[in-house]
Amino acid sequence: MKLRLNEKPLIDAAQVQQRIAALATEISAAYVGKDLVLLVVLKGSVPFSVDLMRQLNIPLEVDYIRARSYEGTESRGTVQFTHLPEGSLKGRDVLIVEDILDTGRTAEAIRDFVASQHPASERFITLLDKPSRRVQEVEADYVGFIIDDHFVVGYGLDYDERYRELDAIYTLGS
Ligand code: IMP
Ligand code: MG
Repeated sequence: MKLRLNEKPLIDAAQVQQRIAALATEISAAYVGKDLVLLVVLKGSVPFSVDLMRQLNIPLEVDYIRARSYEGTESRGTVQFTHLPEGSLKGRDVLIVEDILDTGRTAEAIRDFVASQHPASERFITLLDKPSRRVQEVEADYVGFIIDDHFVVGYGLDYDERYRELDAIYTLGS
């Protein structure tokens, strides 16, 4: 089946930026006097993290983690890390930055990893949340948009590595 981009965005570029500005105001207030580390989940969260950090008006550091989930018959839903943060998270105020919360398996694995590093605090922000798809009981502390069970691309999100460069969020149709 060949999927094509639906022309009208589900969430347009202006809506994305407006929501990020509101989230940035909330986060800037919440992290005054803290030792903030944005832990960005590669690759999809890069555009979101960049736009978010440019609107934060508090000191922060950035680090990256990359997780892959395997859906083979025996290792269904196993998450492996292919890149780990370079700096120490111990005693830091870690904010995990995700593009989308779907089944919750990736988020759960990343939260477990971060907890194992003994941070001072750990919170989770996701641009998009598909709560109807959850198999792990995990909730984000900050959510950009709650969406229905659509496969979406753009603004970092890919279909087979494509469409990450788009500045808005689109659904795919047949
Ligand atoms: P999880 O199912 O919550 O573990 O999400 C795993 C990963 O699946 C996310 O980080 C995304 O990379 C990817 N993903 C889930 N839903 C979508 C989507 O609608 N579009 C593109 N990628 C998605
Ligand atoms: Mg992702």
